[in-house]
Amino acid sequence: MTKNVSTATPLLGVNIDHVATLRQARGVAYPDPIAAALLCEQAGADGITLHLREDRRHIQDDDVYRMKPLLKTRMNLEMATTSEMLAIALDVKPEWVCLVPEKREELTTEGGLDVAAQVETLAPYIKSLQQADIKVSLFIDPEPAQIEAALHCGTDAVELHTGKYSEATLTEDKAEIAKELARVQQAAEYALSKSEQLIINAGHGLTRDNVHAIASIHGIYELNIGHALIADSVFMGLEKAVQAMQAAMQGKKI
Ligand code: PXP
Repeated sequence: MTKNVSTATPLLGVNIDHVATLRQARGVAYPDPIAAALLCEQAGADGITLHLREDRRHIQDDDVYRMKPLLKTRMNLEMATTSEMLAIALDVKPEWVCLVPEKREELTTEGGLDVAAQVETLAPYIKSLQQADIKVSLFIDPEPAQIEAALHCGTDAVELHTGKYSEATLTEDKAEIAKELARVQQAAEYALSKSEQLIINAGHGLTRDNVHAIASIHGIYELNIGHALIADSVFMGLEKAVQAMQAAMQGKKI
């Protein structure tokens, strides 16, 4: 992936974790997240994201191994910074790894990595992945100090956590929505001003209703979207849900 800040609309990476959530709810073999990933690709998704959590609550090791050779786009493997996950990533060799903080008690990835507090651990970890030709993204809160630290660690990309913005959009509080949107905008601007190489992605909690403002931020390369898109697919089917999200990113309805 080369950086192209002139891309009018960001690319769409689809996170298929919650297809596996549905499967795990019954402990059966369906629905298959690999079949879902391939459908998303056919529908025009630019990449597939999956999070192998330490507690294996949705995606399983076997999903990651089965999916990798079948993807036509690219795999973005989200994982915690542990030695277990490093060994898996070096074995599977996804195109991208996105390092995320993980807490067992959380429902989803609630905040970004505190990169600034972990530069010494993260820098060699990132290097081990890069030496295996795996590009690395760090999931961070949209804050200048985290961007600085991420650059310091030698990451290829950052993914700006849009959770606070997304939560604000679920309320009627226009001032809060504007404030959280501005945080993401300013973080993207800051990252652009600091590095020409750093790829800037964003994601978390994005829906067809709130995605356009984030997709319109200059310099954002890719959005990673899961929960709302998989929820849409219940009503409209997965292919249509991918296309409807891509349209929403452009401010259109289909
Ligand atoms: N990006 C990262 C790094 C994530 O951890 C998640 C959630 O797993 C997402 C994007 C997608 O968030 P959502 O499922 O809310 O769209």
